Amino acid sequence: MSLPDKQRIRATFARAAASYDAAAVLQREVCARLLARLDAATEPPPAHILDAGCGTGYGAGLLHARWPQAAIVAADFAATMAATTRRQAPAGTACAVADIEALPFADATFDLWWSSLTVQWCDAATVLAEAARVLRGDGRLALSTLGDGTFAELRTAFAAVDRHRHTLDFAAAERLAEAATAAGLHDVALARETLTLHYPDLKALLGAVKAIGANALGAGRRPGMMGKAAWQALAAAYERQRDADGLPASYDVILLTARK
Ligand SMILES: C[S@@+](CC[C@H](N)C(=O)[O-])C[C@H]1O[C@@H](n2cnc3c(N)ncnc32)[C@H](O)[C@@H]1O
Repeated sequence: MSLPDKQRIRATFARAAASYDAAAVLQREVCARLLARLDAATEPPPAHILDAGCGTGYGAGLLHARWPQAAIVAADFAATMAATTRRQAPAGTACAVADIEALPFADATFDLWWSSLTVQWCDAATVLAEAARVLRGDGRLALSTLGDGTFAELRTAFAAVDRHRHTLDFAAAERLAEAATAAGLHDVALARETLTLHYPDLKALLGAVKAIGANALGAGRRPGMMGKAAWQALAAAYERQRDADGLPASYDVILLTARK
């Protein structure tokens, strides 16, 4: 399945800038795990860092705390996300409205290219080629994205209702590693962890997806084409997966690091 069109993804994220932080529990956890993978391997400290797909600026804040001397550029193609980062990120962070598939930066600009939970919305090969282009020789790359185990429970529930796909076709980790190598990157290292969040009910789960803007496929709202009976069937199918903590939603998190 191809990605939803870029205008739609951008517009959906742009609408979510104000609600993003309150719902971004998984996103903060993944940033922390990505930074932990990078920490040990990043010497000398990066002087110029790009946060590619910065959202509201949480990652830029973490990167600043880890490398206070670094000049950080935070880029997002949704103008309201970039504007929120401009307000919230540490002083000195430069913000750009930019597409990470076609970056407005010169070759060999950055020592660290960082991107958390954004590449799943992009063409990975294009993004990685751009990352390799803007990285300096020996620069580091760190990205997190989602694998195809993500929202397994939601897919199971939708399968009881219709045959359409309602979640992204998440990149397989191996394909991503191949794309990194094809872009000319070395020392490609992969890690994969399943994180499971719990929600009180399906409405709360889909509301959280919508609040961060990840609903461009329609999974974050009661899908417009879905009638009441189908909605009830979906909710009932999801209920069958309830455990002691509530309704589970799995995120198959892929962490990739590499060097130019
Ligand atoms: C789930 S958010 C993650 C934000 C942030 N990295 C974090 O960890 O909180 C994904 C972000 O990627 C941005 N995005 C998606 N595709 C993009 C692209 N091609 N170029 C730039 N930004 C993009 C969206 O606008 C959104 O702000």
